[in-house]
Amino acid sequence: MSEADTIVATWSTSTALLAARDVMKYFGDDRRPVLEHVSVELHEGEFVALLGPSGSGKSTLLRILAGLMEPSGGEVLVHGAPLEGTNPNVALVFQSFALFPWLDVLQNVELGLLSMEVSDDERRRRALKAIDLIGLDGYEEAFPKELSGGMKQRVGFARALVVQPEVLFMDEPFSALDVLTAENLRTELQDLWLAKTMPTKAVVMVTHNIDEAVSLADRILVFGANPGHIRVELKGLPPSDRSEKSATRARLVDLIYRIMTNPEDDAVAIVEQSLQGRTRPIAARGPGRAAATRARRYQVLPDVSIDDLTGLVQYIGGIGGHAAVQDLARDLQMRAEDLLAIVEAIDLLGFGALQERQVVLTPIGTRFADAELDEEKAIFRAQALDHIALLHHIVRDLETTPTHTLDAERIIDELEHSFSSEEARRQFETAVDWGRYAELFTYDDSSGELTLDEEHRLRRS
Ligand SMILES: Nc1ncnc2c1ncn2[C@@H]1O[C@H](COP(=O)(O)OP(=O)(O)OP(=O)(O)O)[C@@H](O)[C@H]1O
Ligand SMILES: [Mg+2]
Repeated sequence: MSEADTIVATWSTSTALLAARDVMKYFGDDRRPVLEHVSVELHEGEFVALLGPSGSGKSTLLRILAGLMEPSGGEVLVHGAPLEGTNPNVALVFQSFALFPWLDVLQNVELGLLSMEVSDDERRRRALKAIDLIGLDGYEEAFPKELSGGMKQRVGFARALVVQPEVLFMDEPFSALDVLTAENLRTELQDLWLAKTMPTKAVVMVTHNIDEAVSLADRILVFGANPGHIRVELKGLPPSDRSEKSATRARLVDLIYRIMTNPEDDAVAIVEQSLQGRTRPIAARGPGRAAATRARRYQVLPDVSIDDLTGLVQYIGGIGGHAAVQDLARDLQMRAEDLLAIVEAIDLLGFGALQERQVVLTPIGTRFADAELDEEKAIFRAQALDHIALLHHIVRDLETTPTHTLDAERIIDELEHSFSSEEARRQFETAVDWGRYAELFTYDDSSGELTLDEEHRLRRS
């Protein structure tokens, strides 16, 4: 048994409430994989959190486990038997509350029982009980528009719990709520769960919030993207270690940050390193990243706006040129995943590097942070042309075509060799956003034409 086994979760041998076995999912004609070889088991008494970047297939996996979508390969087992159709043992809570505006709270909750054969009386009785359980007493006749976000999400919970599901799925249930409301609802849910007041035997929650995962989960699955897969399963903390001040908690939060900030690295190796207390210089990440980039024709540009990018560089510049990702997430009230996408853009452009869990600005990044707009753009332009292959190619093509124009569709077609059509379009849009800001080219959305920036042409000639 390796040391990592003490942290990397393992499955128990009892029959799982619910299991995915080697699940695969492809979408569209190009059969681009969204989930590959995903196996996971859910056992009685467990609260499992799913963490991972956008697009890593977390919601897709929930849908497959709930029987709302069929896997392209592999199978879903409910108590050991293959699932057919929708899974009657599962209820779902979504980020968007999905309430019917023309129904009051009681009716919205009763909706959860619509597909079940229960008498009107029984339906009412159970709905009122769920409403009571989730703290909506007194709101039975309120309509959604009268409710705050937190109250709306309580209705979402009540509607899920009214069916007394064996398994409760929550897909980012708190992320649409303001911080305090989310905290309040999270604590209440945790109390219900720990007191076993709910009939529910297991919970699976997708979240972008590492703290939330660590506070609630007995097991944490970290997903990776392209294609979606489980990078590592981590054991959660015993409830006694979950308090904010516990050192064990801080170590686990740190470890998860380290795993998520090194998406190309072997997560189990990161766990082992952290157990041995070894720290690793960031340079070690280089080869992995470079190899992954070579495999594609293009780097993946994170979907990050210029405002967010320059904003974060300036912010870090303003606080001394370096900051822990965790502190940034807290101080800027950002989701770890959104923040990491911006950090990745900063890294790609050479404005900074991730060293362990710190973002450290490079000298050019520091200059960029301090520069006035014109110089800022000039620095960005130089870095973008040097570091971003897609922008480099677009500009080179614009320079060499006699008309100095390019058809957007042609570029997108080319990107589709490396990306799904949806992702290709997103890559293109990011490149256009960055290229426009850098004053490398202009883009006319109605004609779908890119034109070399006049100034840039003059600068080059
Ligand atoms: N019905 C669909 N048709 C085609 N592609 C889809 C469909 N549903 C999801 N996808 C694609 O599958 C991938 C995974 O999506 P999914 O929503 O499961 O990711 P996620 O991990 O939940 O992301 P997020 O954190 O942003 O919610 C994405 O690239 C998405 O575009
Ligand atoms: Mg999702």
